[in-house]
This record gives sequence, structure tokens and C-alpha cells, in this order.
Amino acid sequence: MITISAPAKINLTLEVLGKRPDGYHEVRSIMQSISLSDTLIIKEADTLEITSDDEQWDGRISLVAKAADLLKKRTGTRKGASIIVQKRIPLLSGLGGDSSDAAAALAGLNEIWSLGLSRDELKKMANELGSDIPFFFSGGTALATGRGEIISSLPPISHSWVVLIFPDTPRRPRKTKTAYESLIPSHFTDGDTTNQLVDSLITGKYPDDTLLINAFEKVAFSLYPGLETIQQQLSSIGISRLHLAGSGPTLFSIYGDLVKAKDIVSRLEDHSFQCNLTETT
Ligand code: C5P
Repeated sequence: MITISAPAKINLTLEVLGKRPDGYHEVRSIMQSISLSDTLIIKEADTLEITSDDEQWDGRISLVAKAADLLKKRTGTRKGASIIVQKRIPLLSGLGGDSSDAAAALAGLNEIWSLGLSRDELKKMANELGSDIPFFFSGGTALATGRGEIISSLPPISHSWVVLIFPDTPRRPRKTKTAYESLIPSHFTDGDTTNQLVDSLITGKYPDDTLLINAFEKVAFSLYPGLETIQQQLSSIGISRLHLAGSGPTLFSIYGDLVKAKDIVSRLEDHSFQCNLTETT
């Protein structure tokens, strides 16, 4: 039996450069893993069984199931496995939970089933399953280009506290696709802000908050009914400097100082906002 941690991510920047002929969008993004994690417990079994402690998460349609199916198809293995997914990353939140679980499943099943696939072979399969999955093979701070699947490690951001706020807004499956489809050419940027943040990371400078941009912030209020009101409520209790996590709707705010981060969390809790204090990893 093996136990694997599957961390969440935020995008410190998420710039969309334009639409590609293959229907995807070209991105330039700095991804960052954080301490909030799911856990996968994997053991060999007669059949493939994927379960979770979160009743709303359907293992059969998850990327974990798709990862297992792809591994079986490519290697021809007839082995089964029991995969228990302990969900801590909220579903459809923009924090990459399903993608991270899929990366963990690929790595875990490769080991449990003794498939002997290299990291590069696993990453290629990850790439076929979804644009966000390859990042989770390295985590940390990384530049993502192409459709998000080309990953280059960056010097890590100085240790930071990340306050996550989970707005209670309706969200639909395939929300990432919808979010990309909502973008229009005036939302596209040239990647320069991401390059400036890369420079900050290389020189060891703490990133300026104004560099944390995300193209989906331009469409978030139309994607997530109620989000605008929530942001106004947050602003009225003095919480600004908020950024959208991935394609949302989670919001995050980042601090070098734990006292400041804890103060924000207690203010959020006093006003009954669902939140979580995490840190960069
Ligand atoms: O790669 P993934 O399957 O996670 O993407 C889900 C959908 O999001 C894609 O089908 C595509 O419509 C959209 N997408 C995009 N450009 C990207 C990544 C995703 O248009 N770079």
C-alpha cells in the first residue's frame, strides 16, 4: 500500500496570449504548489475501485479514473487497484485538485503495478489527460507555457502564507472550458507581466502584488454569479489584494508575514467566510 500527497496549486500569474489553431489557448503562467493537499491511498486489488470521503466527488468520471484507464490501455496490465481519495481541496475550485490527484494516481499506480514507466513517460500521459497535470510532477514554483503543459522550474518564491477564500457561488462541470471560451481578444496579454515576475524570482525579490494577474479575473463576475457582491463584502471589511485562483472561483491573498495572514483569517472567520490558511511549498 502507498500513500501519496496531492497538493493544490495557485497561479501567481495566468496570462492568456491568444487562441491557438488546435482550439486551446496559449498561456504564460507561474504556478505555485501550496500545502493544502488531497491524499491518495493506493493498494493492489482484483478490480479497479476508486472511492472518496467526499460524497460529491464521483470517482468514475474523475481524472483519477481516466489516469488509471490510460495506464491500463498503454501497458496492457490487467491488474486492479483500490484508490481511496481523501479530498481536502474543494471541488471545482480553481486549485487543481483533480489534476493533482491524477498526477498522484499515475505515479502511484506505476509503482503499485510495477510498470517501470519513466517520469517522462508518465508526464507524457499526464499531458494527454489535461493541461494542468504535468506541473504536479515537480510542483514548487514553475513557469507553464504552451497550453500550460510545458513546465520549467523557477527559483522558489520566498516562503509565503496563502489565505484561500472559498466563495459560495454556483459552479458547473467543464468550468475551465467555459472560462476560456468567455475570453475575448482584448483579454489577451503578451506575457510581459509573467516575465517580470520571473525576473523578481530570479533576483530573489519578494513579488510585487501588482504582478499577480490572471486573465480570468476579467470574466470572473460573469462566470460566477454573486462573486462581485462577495468581493465588495470582503473589501468592506478591509480585505483587498485578492486574486483569482486558476479559473476560479477561489480567491487568494498572499503574505510574507504570518501575523498579518492570521489577522486576515480571523477577520474572515468573524464574518463567516469559508477560508483556509495555507503556505507555499
Ligand atoms: O487541458 P484541459 O482538458 O484541462 O482543458 C479543458 C478545456 O479548457 C479544454 O478543452 C479547452 O477548451 C480549454 N483550455 C484552453 N486552453 C488551455 C487549456 C484549456 O482553451 N491552455
